[in-house]
Amino acid sequence: MAAQDKTPPASTPQPGAAERPLHVAIVMDGNGRWAKRRGLPRTLGHREGVEALKRTVSAAAEQDIRWLTVFGFSTENWSRPAAEVAELMALPKRYFESDIGRLEREGVRVRVIGRRAGLSPELVRIIEDAETRTARNDRFFLNIAFNYGGQADIADAARRFAEEVAAGRARPSDLDERVFASFLATAGSPPPDVIIRPSGEQRLSNFLLWEAAYAELVFQDVLWPDYGAEHLKAALAAFAARDRRYGAIVADDVLAAG
Ligand code: FPP
Repeated sequence: MAAQDKTPPASTPQPGAAERPLHVAIVMDGNGRWAKRRGLPRTLGHREGVEALKRTVSAAAEQDIRWLTVFGFSTENWSRPAAEVAELMALPKRYFESDIGRLEREGVRVRVIGRRAGLSPELVRIIEDAETRTARNDRFFLNIAFNYGGQADIADAARRFAEEVAAGRARPSDLDERVFASFLATAGSPPPDVIIRPSGEQRLSNFLLWEAAYAELVFQDVLWPDYGAEHLKAALAAFAARDRRYGAIVADDVLAAG
């Protein structure tokens, strides 16, 4: 059977106190409200969101995080007004034009996850260029979810596995959680330890649905354009205070119950 891309690193979750996360994921939310509060067009909120992304990538690397996955554009965001969609489509170009050289030099590997269908040929070229330029880097992994939806990704993965079966390269009995994960857009990344959502909203909004199975969720009352190192530190402190059980219980509790 031909597995897609790379299989995710084998990670056997160990119950216990959470320490420093290996993989942090962020729903970059609140750009529109940030702009509205200032009487500015929403587009300016999104541009400030790019600045917050730059700060957060640096802050995450300083905090010894290895994987950062951010939600830049969802499969549902196409339903926004055309002018706003156009601005959102311009954000990767804005980000890579200013930062790709630095990301490349600093050992960051960039991957853009999500459907390429629907993106303009120019945007696809910009994305592919960023991915190619950083392909050999392995100090820090930045996944940008763009035209991404968790349900769409699960459906796409199921379709790709079904195609393997139809082509005679896989059998239905080959499929388990690990094999399925290797068909997802996030294949090659460990699952997120923590998913952070600023802006006060408390939902996943179709982000990393499969991968979120045992992620800790941290919600913060700050709008994304204001996000920075101190907010990431606060989120990491909240994560460190969590007791990660992965459905298990610790041996002491078994004895106490007896
Ligand atoms: C949600 O806020 C945010 C987005 C739809 C865009 C996120 C993009 C960035 C933060 C810029 C960086 C992106 C890339 C791809 C480099 P919202 O507009 O829904 O805010 P609201 O809930 O306050 O209206």
